[in-house]
Amino acid sequence: MDEFVAWVLCRAGLNSRSYRVQPLHRRIPACLRALKAPSPLAARILIEHQPHLLATAVSALLIGVTEFFRDPFVFESIRTHVLPELAVRRKGLRVWSVACSSGAELYSMAILLSEAGLLEESFLLGTDCREDAIEQAREGLYDTEELSLLPPALRRAYFTAQAGMFRPVRALRAKTVWKVADVLNGPEQGPWDIILWRNAAIYLNPTAAASVWRDLAPILAPGGILVSGKAERPPADVYCTGMSRCLYHTKEKYR
Ligand SMILES: C[S@@+](CC[C@H](N)C(=O)[O-])C[C@H]1O[C@@H](n2cnc3c(N)ncnc32)[C@H](O)[C@@H]1O
Repeated sequence: MDEFVAWVLCRAGLNSRSYRVQPLHRRIPACLRALKAPSPLAARILIEHQPHLLATAVSALLIGVTEFFRDPFVFESIRTHVLPELAVRRKGLRVWSVACSSGAELYSMAILLSEAGLLEESFLLGTDCREDAIEQAREGLYDTEELSLLPPALRRAYFTAQAGMFRPVRALRAKTVWKVADVLNGPEQGPWDIILWRNAAIYLNPTAAASVWRDLAPILAPGGILVSGKAERPPADVYCTGMSRCLYHTKEKYR
């Protein structure tokens, strides 16, 4: 791991050895640009003198790309297969978006739950290791691009326009809880009906990614599902076959 990257992550309390080297190395130029620093050494000195810039550096290194209803087929499978099945068992669901970035993924789930009449009794938690991502999620302001996959009717129903940006309506914001947390330090207290662990494992080395999958599996509620990113697969020894691409049950689906 590059010395500068390791230093930034370590200073932010993150374990650089858990990450794949290449994706983080590729982000060094973007990180230097964000800090307006000519070199890694200059960036380091800058952060030492202005500690608030550490968050800028971490955000530049750890890619936080996200959008509402990212990979729409996943949300469509949740809407048509998962929610009806879980709704038979419970009036409200517990949903955790691990590595939620700025919150679009969890708000997308809040919209689905609302449409299914399950939001009122549900609990939705979003966690990410980046403080500024969690601040943004709490603030809940998104630009048009982040909402581009959202059907216009849902945009009208669930967002208010605010100075050229869009904000989820109070009913959605009131049901979401946000927290800064490093998933490599262990999972949030379960059980969870839906755990979204998408597009973050690809940045971890195989051992660290597998250890997160193994932490998440036992805290699924009976009938609960784990959702992966398109390019991610849980280790074979943990899960049965997916009921749909990116959706996984534990071995004991109907405990
Ligand atoms: C590409 S975004 C994925 C966002 C969202 N899950 C999605 O699929 O649209 C990856 C996120 O993982 C977060 N992340 C990276 N390492 C993490 C860790 N150890 N604990 C929690 N979040 C982490 C990053 O801060 C970033 O916001």
